[in-house]
Amino acid sequence: MKYNNPSIFQRRDFLQRLCIGTSALWTVQGAFAEALTLTPHQTEGPLYPDKLPLDTDNDLLIINEGITPAVGEVTHVQGRILDKSGSPVRNAVVELWQVDSQGVYIHSQTARRGNQDKNFQGFGRFLTGSSGEYYFRTVKPPAYGGRARHIHFAILRNNQRVLTTQLYVKGDPLIQRDGPIRSIRDPKLRAMLIKDFAPLKGSKTGELIVNFDIVVGVTPEDPKEDPIRFRNPKYKKG
Ligand SMILES: [Fe+2]
Repeated sequence: MKYNNPSIFQRRDFLQRLCIGTSALWTVQGAFAEALTLTPHQTEGPLYPDKLPLDTDNDLLIINEGITPAVGEVTHVQGRILDKSGSPVRNAVVELWQVDSQGVYIHSQTARRGNQDKNFQGFGRFLTGSSGEYYFRTVKPPAYGGRARHIHFAILRNNQRVLTTQLYVKGDPLIQRDGPIRSIRDPKLRAMLIKDFAPLKGSKTGELIVNFDIVVGVTPEDPKEDPIRFRNPKYKKG
């Protein structure tokens, strides 16, 4: 699969603006950064879309030119893709996938398929520019099937996946007994994936914002390190 056609990343103007104000500060921090810790891996899980949606842009609330947005707590997910030295990674593809407000994935094997929010895109991509920043508009995922609330991420460099991970919601009580996050023993590493979904300043509709910086290496991820990817003979990604 080729990712080098920027036209597939339909970056709507209003989606871009949110990031710009903070980029100057980030650049200064990057310049003085010590070697950073790589963001920990998490399992891909069995529900990476088996058929991608027609629209794969970074706004998961609206599919193509639809007029009815997805239902849920609107959440702005943003951050930077960094390398170990703290420098922004350009031309990284950030993939995000998650359940809709009803706990349904866009996957043929998802639970509760009949409850699916047909207006929710469920998957999106963002190609980073020179600042390494990415941005998605989505909904806060509910907890489902015994898992804590989580959003899946995959990061690709040069068309190869270098990291698969998950983002969790700070304060979610289910984190205490969630298998994948608890598989990370070091509390400092674990904390790298648990972020505050904070109220967006000035929002009259209760929108949330979360900052999630992701530190990646350059080596393609080994699928054997993920038991689910290793077991799945249909696995074709990265
Ligand atoms: Fe999941």
